[in-house]
Amino acid sequence: MSNPATGLLLSQIALHATEAAAVACAKWRGLGKKNDADQAAVDAMRKSFEHAPFDGLVVIGEGEIDEAPMLYIGEKVGAGGIAADIAVDPLEGTKLCANDAPNAMTVVALAPRGGLLHAPDMYMDKLAIGPGYPPGLIDLDLSPTENVQRLAKAKGVAVKDIRACLLDRERHHHIIEELRRAGAGIRLIPDGDVAGVFWTTETARSGVDIYFGSGGAPEGVLAAAAIRCAGGQMQARLKPESEAEIARAKTMGHADIARKFTLDDLVPGDVVFAASGVTDGSMFSGVVFAADGAHVESVVWDSFTGRKARVASVLRG
Ligand code: FBP
Repeated sequence: MSNPATGLLLSQIALHATEAAAVACAKWRGLGKKNDADQAAVDAMRKSFEHAPFDGLVVIGEGEIDEAPMLYIGEKVGAGGIAADIAVDPLEGTKLCANDAPNAMTVVALAPRGGLLHAPDMYMDKLAIGPGYPPGLIDLDLSPTENVQRLAKAKGVAVKDIRACLLDRERHHHIIEELRRAGAGIRLIPDGDVAGVFWTTETARSGVDIYFGSGGAPEGVLAAAAIRCAGGQMQARLKPESEAEIARAKTMGHADIARKFTLDDLVPGDVVFAASGVTDGSMFSGVVFAADGAHVESVVWDSFTGRKARVASVLRG
C-alpha cells in the first residue's frame, strides 16, 4: 500500500516545477524561437527541483548527458529525501509556444524509484482512452475501426459521436482514412501528443475520446502517468526507425523491441502527474501576466490518494 504522504509531497514538487517552467517559457510565446522557449522552461524547472525535498533522478529528460547540460537522463536533483524517478517535458509543444498556438504545456511525472519505464528517445505507437470503461476494451493489435466500434458500444453512442485524436502526420494517413471510413470524428493536432492522450481522461471538457498514433516514446510515459492517475487505459509499442535505434533500445533494457507495453509496464505503480498551461488549450488557459503576477492554471493528479486537483496560482516575477 503506497503512502498518501508521498503523493502529497511529490504533487507539490511536480506542481511547482510545471508552474515555474510555464511562466518562464510563456515569455517566449509567439517569438518564433522554440529552442529559447524550451531552454527557459528547462532552466526554470531545473531550478525548481534544486531545493525540493526529495532525492530525484531524471529518467525521462532532455536527452543524454552529452546532448543536454540540464535535466539529462541520469541527472540527480533535489535537496534530499524520498527517492523518486522524474519524467519531464519542460515545454511540450515547443513549436506551439513559438507560434503562440494552442495547447503548449509543461509536464512532470514523479514516482517512487523504479516507477517509470525508461523509454528511449524514438517513436512509440500509442493507444489510450479515459476512465469508466471495462478493462481490456481497446487493444493496439485491433484495427482502428474495431477500437472505435468497441468504444462506441461501451459508451452507448454511435461511432460518429466518438472523437479520435491524432498528430497530423503523413505516417498517420492510413489510420485517418480508416477512421473516416468507420465514420468516427477526428481531431488532428499539429503537435503535442501528451496533451492528446491527456485529453481522453476528461472527454466532457476536451471533446476527445480516444488517442491513436505514434509520437515520442518519452512523451508516451508522461502521458501514461496521466492515464494511471485518471484510471484510463493505455497500450504502447516502441517504433524504432533504424538499426541504431534498435541497438539503443536494447542497451536500455528493451530486448523485445516488438513488446506491447501495458499501462502497468509504462507506469508500474503510483505516480504523480502535473501539467501547466503555457498557451490557451483544451484543458486549461495559458499564462496571463497581470499586475499582481503571473496567473498559471494547472492540474496535479496523484494516484496515491486518487486526488485530481485543478490549481490556479499567481506567481511573482
Ligand atoms: P516538442 O515539444 O519536443 O517539439 O515535441 C512535440 C511533439 O509533437 C510531441 O508531442 C510528439 O511526441 C512529437 O513531437 C512527435 O514527433 P514528430 O514531430 O516527429 O512527429
